[in-house]
Amino acid sequence: MNRHLLGPGDYEAFQTYLQGACGIVLGHGKEYLVTSRLAGLMRTNGITSVGELLKRVKAGGSQGLQVSVIDAMTTNETFWFRDMPHFQMLSDIVFPEVESKPGRSMRIWSAACSSGQESYNLSMTAQQYISAHPGCLSGGVEILGTDISNRILEEAKKGVYCGLSASRGLGAEQRERYFISRDDCLEVRPEIRRRVSFRSQNITENYSLLGRFDVIFCRNVLIYFSAEKKSDIIERMARALNSRGYLFLGSTESLSSHSNLFEMVNHGGGIAYRLK
Ligand SMILES: C[S@@+](CC[C@H](N)C(=O)[O-])C[C@H]1O[C@@H](n2cnc3c(N)ncnc32)[C@H](O)[C@@H]1O
Repeated sequence: MNRHLLGPGDYEAFQTYLQGACGIVLGHGKEYLVTSRLAGLMRTNGITSVGELLKRVKAGGSQGLQVSVIDAMTTNETFWFRDMPHFQMLSDIVFPEVESKPGRSMRIWSAACSSGQESYNLSMTAQQYISAHPGCLSGGVEILGTDISNRILEEAKKGVYCGLSASRGLGAEQRERYFISRDDCLEVRPEIRRRVSFRSQNITENYSLLGRFDVIFCRNVLIYFSAEKKSDIIERMARALNSRGYLFLGSTESLSSHSNLFEMVNHGGGIAYRLK
């Protein structure tokens, strides 16, 4: 245990800093999480306490250090076709609705995309829909993956998955259809990649420059935020959606106080929220 890295008051100061920087709320008793995640970074930078690290970050001399702290503290857990009913809802409900507005491209935002599996899965779902319905989605599908962590975005952009990340959630048929095998790794095929782009975005900050979307996937990230921050993000996502656009949250997350902006759509074991 690296408890010696925390001086008196350091944990509380770090809680306040992290919530302000990226919205993540650290509850009581997470000292071990903080010291274990930051120990390597502090060692590399010759920093001996979390208090000293905070001073360096707040002095603003090194933007790189701030990004590394956020990178170390975010949980990037993800896997292929997580919450499969959501992807089925796209094919069964969302794509046919957009198709009824011909000639226009569809925009999907994978907010908090981690290492890219969710974003590429959206493209795979579009690909499968187009193969089954030739001539459909003719205006094209554009998928934007964003995350606060630059380190994880670099992995997403590569589109190459090895070890556990190449197997979790994938069946043999999907591996064959959507990937090229390279040694022990899988590379996402170019026809899947070409719809997807990645960029950095903190969802607690202004995202009006990203434009409007037909669908937003914001899954398994709101759980880290305070109720107030979560409300603010959901309200701003509602403004970033086109008329009758869809918001998908993680299967353990809910809209809570914002149900007035959306109507709930239940289908095949999945839930989505359609803008009223
Ligand atoms: C648990 S992963 C979820 C990935 C994917 N959406 C899924 O459901 O499998 C959470 C992601 O949220 C990102 N994240 C945390 N705080 C964020 C913020 N304020 N803005 C954008 N992304 C954030 C983390 O870097 C991490 O990659």
